[in-house]
Amino acid sequence: MSRVLVIDDNETMRSGMALLLERMGHDVTAASGGGEGLRQMKARPFDLVITDYKMVDMDGLEVLDAVRRDYADTDVVVITAYGTIDVAVEAMRKGAADFVVKADALYDVLRLRVEKVLKHRELRQSRDRLDEENQYLRDEIGVRFNFGEMVGRSKPMKTVYEMVEKVAETDSAVLVYGESGTGKELVARAIHRRSARREGPFVKVNCGSLPRELVQSELFGHEKGAFTGAIRQKKGKFELAEGGTIFLDEIGDLPLEAQVNILRVLQTKEYDRVGGEETLHADVRVIAATHRVLREMVAEGAFREDLFYRLEVIPIRLVPLRDRKADIPDLVEHFLHKKCEEMNRPMKRLTDRAMAAMASYTWPGNVRELENVVERTLVLADGNVVDVNDLPLDVEASRAEVSAEELEDSAIPLTRRLEDLERQLIEQALEQAGGVKTKAAEMLGIKTSAFYYKLDKYGLT
Ligand SMILES: Nc1ncnc2c1ncn2[C@@H]1O[C@H](COP(=O)(O)OP(=O)(O)OP(=O)(O)O)[C@@H](O)[C@H]1O
Ligand SMILES: [Mg+2]
Repeated sequence: MSRVLVIDDNETMRSGMALLLERMGHDVTAASGGGEGLRQMKARPFDLVITDYKMVDMDGLEVLDAVRRDYADTDVVVITAYGTIDVAVEAMRKGAADFVVKADALYDVLRLRVEKVLKHRELRQSRDRLDEENQYLRDEIGVRFNFGEMVGRSKPMKTVYEMVEKVAETDSAVLVYGESGTGKELVARAIHRRSARREGPFVKVNCGSLPRELVQSELFGHEKGAFTGAIRQKKGKFELAEGGTIFLDEIGDLPLEAQVNILRVLQTKEYDRVGGEETLHADVRVIAATHRVLREMVAEGAFREDLFYRLEVIPIRLVPLRDRKADIPDLVEHFLHKKCEEMNRPMKRLTDRAMAAMASYTWPGNVRELENVVERTLVLADGNVVDVNDLPLDVEASRAEVSAEELEDSAIPLTRRLEDLERQLIEQALEQAGGVKTKAAEMLGIKTSAFYYKLDKYGLT
């Protein structure tokens, strides 16, 4: 169903056409003159305007001009009197989608023409959509490097991707090092997803938050009556992870007693439920993570050396964000996309200055902090462009530290700089064209549809 506006000052003609179009299943509005028609258009958008040529207040070509000027997306069909082919030619020249000559079979002809125009319109729109999607995909591929959910194309991250790919094929224990918020859990999940165990469970255990007296039972389960409060048998995390992967987060916080049992699982693939008689077999891949320097803990006697070597078969080190600043723009873009989608909001973008401030901040909370800052910014910033002032204060404060050298840095990709330039040009053109979009598009030498797409992209609508 399309929205059609019929403009004719002849009552009989007007209601005749309106009836025809309604029968064709369209949403029809009728106006008794050019002026009224244009007022209707201000109130709501139309897909198609059908206007008579000869009217008292305004002729059809003037209506056509006004529509082409202010509503580039609306198609116009002009109805001309018999024998006025020059008007029809002029209408087509001015951008009418079609014309219909008033003659005997007017309604039949009109029906066919309207069908044709709307069909074209649909094709044109789906082509434009495809163009936009292709452009979007091209932008995506150009700007981002993705590894599943992981973003960043700095050298340290590429090394991580390679490691993940390699260890995923094996069943070896993996130890992931990294400060808080660097993506240790993300790496563990990525390994699991790429491994032969991907259909099996991924069970996360936070070793730091387990109450000391419950650690064993949490990890390995217990039998009914094994201790006070053990009113029924309970499965431990290893049993729950059977056939899959267990992720032992903050392994450095694991009490020494429990470390022995983990070592046993790694060595013999065996464990016992607390209070259990039968020994269970574990088919589980172990991935551990820590923000601590385990080697030092070993030296201090706080971590078992034998377990350390068992776990560190394959170490993966996540570099703090401040040491791989090249990833910051990619991460910002990634979270902007993700959060805007989640919050169902139009896409926002950062100015170069805002991006430079993000890139120069030290990010003590690493990627998690960056993710939070992007989310907060989206919630707080008005408009579709985020400038330095819109960034949460602590990030903004670091702006003073942006050195000329860093600004020169490739941290701001060329595509971003080009986008800023493009945006400026569009704003200028719009201003010079007095806000008339078709004119601005013409000044820039681009198609109106492309112009609208860009307006939308830059939040200038
Ligand atoms: N390279 C990355 N690309 C995209 N998102 C990332 C990346 N690294 C981390 N994140 C995101 O940052 C957040 C923190 O990551 P994660 O929980 O894996 O960190 P962590 O090292 O386990 O932190 P903590 O030590 O605080 O538990 C998550 O939302 C994660 O999705
Ligand atoms: Mg974590």
